[in-house]
Amino acid sequence: MIKSNDFGFHHIFVHSSYSYTNSSNNKKEYDDSNKKLTLVLLHGTGGNEEDLILLGKKIEPNASILSPRGKVLENGMPRFFRRLSEGVFDLEDLRIRSHELADFIQKCSVHYKFNLERTIAIGFSNGANIAVSIFFLRPELFQGAILFRAMVPFIPNSLPNLLNKRILISAGLKDPIVSKTETENLYRLFQKTNANTTLKWQPSGHNLIQEDILVAKPWMLNNFPY
Ligand code: MLT
Repeated sequence: MIKSNDFGFHHIFVHSSYSYTNSSNNKKEYDDSNKKLTLVLLHGTGGNEEDLILLGKKIEPNASILSPRGKVLENGMPRFFRRLSEGVFDLEDLRIRSHELADFIQKCSVHYKFNLERTIAIGFSNGANIAVSIFFLRPELFQGAILFRAMVPFIPNSLPNLLNKRILISAGLKDPIVSKTETENLYRLFQKTNANTTLKWQPSGHNLIQEDILVAKPWMLNNFPY
């Protein structure tokens, strides 16, 4: 595991543990092929780069992990972009921070040598919201995403074409922060972009529950087999 402050974000990088057996000497070796997956983990308000590592490992134990810490502080709590109040976002800051985070991920893909075409965002709450924003502003960046308790951060003037991208939205039926309508709007918006979008409802509030993992794991396996 690498802990670093390079490229503008405190972050953790964990190298993929994919391996294969070398037929000539029968030894297990690190498989450096372009097929290996990388998960970009994006925490919620008040979280940090350590928060979602275990979750990422449970969803896809063999993938590489890149986990940055949000740079905006709200009363000392890290976030990925500024908000004016609960659910009311500073849209200019969101735009700037989305590009900044996308640039960071791109630099990391060169430095740590991972394939952006096999990179999937896993975001919770504020982290899921900036992942949605990156899909709208920099659609080339992620191949797919698992969005836990996500909102519509903004509606772009023109929607990108997200054909071949795969998105799982896992929402809480009793979420006091993200309403059912908000979730359905996000689902419809992604459908309009041609993304292959799945919406799963959990019997939960805003916090994650075991069922979120039970849904995310097979979705990952079906959509991004290694
Ligand atoms: C949060 O608490 O992080 C909000 O629900 C989502 C956001 O502000 O982006």
